[in-house]
Amino acid sequence: MAYRIPSTATSAAGRMKAWVIYYYGDNKQFTLSDSVQMPILNSPKDVLIEVSASSVNPIDIRRREGYGAKLIGTYQSAKNVLQMGGNELEKLDFPIILGRDFCGTIIRKGPKVTKFNVGDKVFGALNVTRHGSFAQYCAAGEDEICLKPTNISDGEAAAYPLVSLTSWYAIRKFSGYNEENAFGRRALVLGAGGGVGHVATQLLNNLGMETTALCSERSFDYIRQLGVVDTVDYKQKDWLSELSRKPKYDLIFDTVGPRSYSFELMSPLLNKGGTFVTIVSPIFRNVDQYGLIPGFARTTYTAVKQTYYGLSNGVNYRWAVYRADGHVLNEVKNLIEQNKLKINIDQQKFSFQQIPGAIARVENGSANGKIVIEYLNK
Ligand SMILES: NC(=O)c1ccc[n+]([C@@H]2O[C@H](COP(=O)([O-])OP(=O)(O)OC[C@H]3O[C@@H](n4cnc5c(N)ncnc54)[C@H](OP(=O)(O)O)[C@@H]3O)[C@@H](O)[C@H]2O)c1
Repeated sequence: MAYRIPSTATSAAGRMKAWVIYYYGDNKQFTLSDSVQMPILNSPKDVLIEVSASSVNPIDIRRREGYGAKLIGTYQSAKNVLQMGGNELEKLDFPIILGRDFCGTIIRKGPKVTKFNVGDKVFGALNVTRHGSFAQYCAAGEDEICLKPTNISDGEAAAYPLVSLTSWYAIRKFSGYNEENAFGRRALVLGAGGGVGHVATQLLNNLGMETTALCSERSFDYIRQLGVVDTVDYKQKDWLSELSRKPKYDLIFDTVGPRSYSFELMSPLLNKGGTFVTIVSPIFRNVDQYGLIPGFARTTYTAVKQTYYGLSNGVNYRWAVYRADGHVLNEVKNLIEQNKLKINIDQQKFSFQQIPGAIARVENGSANGKIVIEYLNK
C-alpha cells in the first residue's frame, strides 16, 4: 500500500505547481498548473523534496513524445497489482510531470528514513517510473539520493545526476572497469561533447584510461581542458580511418546510437576481449512501436544477434541504463568536491516559469552544455 504523506507536509489542499502534459506530443503540450496533486510517498523510506533546481535531458523530450510509455505503463501496472494497491499518480497516468534531475531540500520523510533529515539539501535523478522534477515538489527513495556537493550551486548540482549515473553505470557495472583493472587501458567515447559523453570522458580519465574523444570541433577546447588530449572530429569525412590508424581500444562508449555507430562498424577498432557499450538501446522504441511481446521479441533478437557477432569476433556488446543510486551519487559528489568532475553548463539560465523554453533550447540544438533551470520564484 502507498504510504501517504501526512497532511501537514502538503501545501494548500495538497496541491502544488507543476509543468504537466495531458497528451504526448510537441512542446506545446506543456501546461503550467497550480493544482497538481502533491507527490505521494510510496514507501516509508521515501522523502518529499522541495525542488530548487533541475536540468534538461534528451529523455525529457523523448518522454514528452511518448517514448517508453508502453513499457513504463506495463511495469507500473504490474507493480501496483503486486503491491495490492497503488494510486493515480504512481500509475503515471496523465497529467504527467517530466524532468529527471533535481536539487532540493527534504521537507518530509517517511518513518523508516534513517540517512537524511528534514532540511537536508540533496540532489539526484528520478527513476523513469516516478513523476518528475518540473514541479514544486518531487518524491524519491532515500537510497536514490545523496547530499548535495558543498562547493557548487543548486543549479550546477542539478546538472550532474542523470549524466553521471549513466556514465558510471555504463563504465563500472556494464563494462566492468574500475580502479583495479582500468589503468593504462584505452577508451574511445562516441559523442564526447554531449552531456553523458563529457562526464564519461572524465570518469575514464580519472580511472587512468587513455581516452580518445569523438566529437565536433566546437567541443575540442572544452574537452581538452578536461584533460583529454586525443580528439577526433566526427564531422570530417575520414574520421573512421583516423581512428583506425590509432592503437585499438579496450572500451568503446557510445552515446549516439546505431544510426551513426553500429557495433559492426566500430568493433574492428576494439582489442580482442574489448567492450562496446551503448546507452542507446532499442527496447523502449520497439515496445512503443510493436507492442509488448513483439517489441521484446525484436529487442531480444537484436541482443542475441549482437552478442553472437561479438562472440564470433572476440569482443563484447552491452546496453547500459542508468539507475537512481545514492551510493554512486556519493562517489560523484566526492569527485565534484575534489574538482575531479566538471560539468559544462549552457550560458543561458532558465526559471521555473520558462521550462518549455529550456526544453526547446535543447530540442533545437542551440544549447552549448547542460541547460539548468533555477526555481527561484515558483
Ligand atoms: N540508457 C540510459 O540510461 C541513458 C541515460 C541518459 C541518456 N541516454 C541517451 O543517450 C543519448 C545522449 O544523451 P546526452 O544527455 O549526452 O545528450 P546531449 O547532451 O544532447 O548530447 C548529444 C551529443 O551528441 C553529439 N553528437 C551528435 N551526433 C554525433 C555523431 N554522429 N558523432 C559524435 N557525436 C555526435 C552532439 O555533439 P556535438 O555538439 O559535438 O555535435 C551532442 O552534444 C541520448 O540519446 C539519450 O536519450 C540514455
